[in-house]
Amino acid sequence: MTAAHNVIELIGNTPIIELPQIDTGPCRLFVKLENQNPGGSIKDRIGLSMIEAAERDGRLKPGGTIVEATAGNTGLGLALVASQKGYRLIIVIPDKMSQEKIFNLKAMGAEILLTRSDVGKGHPDYYQDKAAAIVKDTPGAIYINQFENPANPLAHETGTGPEIWAQMGHDVDAMVCGVGSGGTITGLSRFFEKVNPDTEMVLADPKGSILADYIDTGELKTEVGSWLVEGIGEDFIPPICDLSRVKRAITVDDAESFQTAREVLEKTGILAGTSSGTLIAAAIRYCREQTEPKRVVTFVCDSGNKYLSKAFNDYWMFDQGLLKRKTYGDLRDLISRPFEEGGTVTARPSDTLMTVYSRMKLNDVSQLPVMEDDQIVGIVHESDILLSVYEDQEKFGEPASIAMSKGLETVDASANIQELMPIFDHGHVAIVKNGDRFSGLITRIDLLNYLRRSAA
Ligand SMILES: Cc1ncc(COP(=O)(O)O)c(C=O)c1O
Repeated sequence: MTAAHNVIELIGNTPIIELPQIDTGPCRLFVKLENQNPGGSIKDRIGLSMIEAAERDGRLKPGGTIVEATAGNTGLGLALVASQKGYRLIIVIPDKMSQEKIFNLKAMGAEILLTRSDVGKGHPDYYQDKAAAIVKDTPGAIYINQFENPANPLAHETGTGPEIWAQMGHDVDAMVCGVGSGGTITGLSRFFEKVNPDTEMVLADPKGSILADYIDTGELKTEVGSWLVEGIGEDFIPPICDLSRVKRAITVDDAESFQTAREVLEKTGILAGTSSGTLIAAAIRYCREQTEPKRVVTFVCDSGNKYLSKAFNDYWMFDQGLLKRKTYGDLRDLISRPFEEGGTVTARPSDTLMTVYSRMKLNDVSQLPVMEDDQIVGIVHESDILLSVYEDQEKFGEPASIAMSKGLETVDASANIQELMPIFDHGHVAIVKNGDRFSGLITRIDLLNYLRRSAA
């Protein structure tokens, strides 16, 4: 091995690993670790192929501008390649996207244009229409558009496919793929058509997407659901997406996708993203229903480190109703961070206000219960700290006991849910006790989460 001189040289040639730790019935399951691309996902491949195609056909000139509408991995793949090749990159993204993604793109040198997420195709503020308009108004700019760009599937036909074929010793019975733009499944379909038409192409689709139904019935459903898994599933069939070789589709819901990503980490040590959870869950189901041994390949498309605060955060999983936990049939079921499980973030009366403030920021909460020997003796809200330090910042060094409120609104775990509203009306949080033991806090958002879970 010799040293590379540019990250672009490290795109592709990702490893494949078998997952014998997972029960796959008579089959053997392999995953290609696309998270090991330098930009962290399978989309580095198309970032490179689409930019190089535009260079070759003369549309992209030195110092030119690339525009794309995406909040996802394609933006990162393009940013990686654009920065190394000296292009300006403008990414248009809907304003509901997470701050993390925006920070990541900005740090890689992309210019970010936020646009409305509450409008659809055809509206001038819809992110794809906006991207097209920017291209029109910017001399030397090109719209790379992964959904219509033939260099997207080509990257998989000429890169991903041959790599898999060689790594698997020319022996692959089935490929399980998701569809975002359709680049992967289209490129691989074309590659396997040439080298081994018997390789079965299997679609893994999030529940709510229209694609699986299209494979099963040939019809496009009109009602589209919603799903939390990112990067795959569609409400339309993208122009570059050719599903003609896909005869089998497997639908996976969010709960199974997230659970599978967690299990894969526990059993194999691979930190995979949530869409990889969908792919691996579908691949496992496919493997287990076979009656003959088969060699099945799927992907780890990106890393789970992007989803640590969601799929790998038990509290978020409980809040979303994606993870079950012990229920009591009383108000304790509304507590998102139970004290008995060590979940509640607390302070001691002697902790300084600086400590309490730092702990609130770290845990993204606005109040902390103050505990003395497992008994709650007060609550410090951020407004209590503000009142204490507003005129004298030296007070950050004072103990929590001087700022905390002692007028606590306590409810017994057995109380009726209606008893929470008057407490919230007073601007307080509800302190839940089970007998004389502190169980945890219920805030307005906990009640909202509970009501949403009950409605689902
Ligand atoms: C995160 C993520 N992005 C993209 C894709 C595939 O996208 P495309 O259809 O655009 O090739 C996958 C496939 O599973 C994925 O998991």
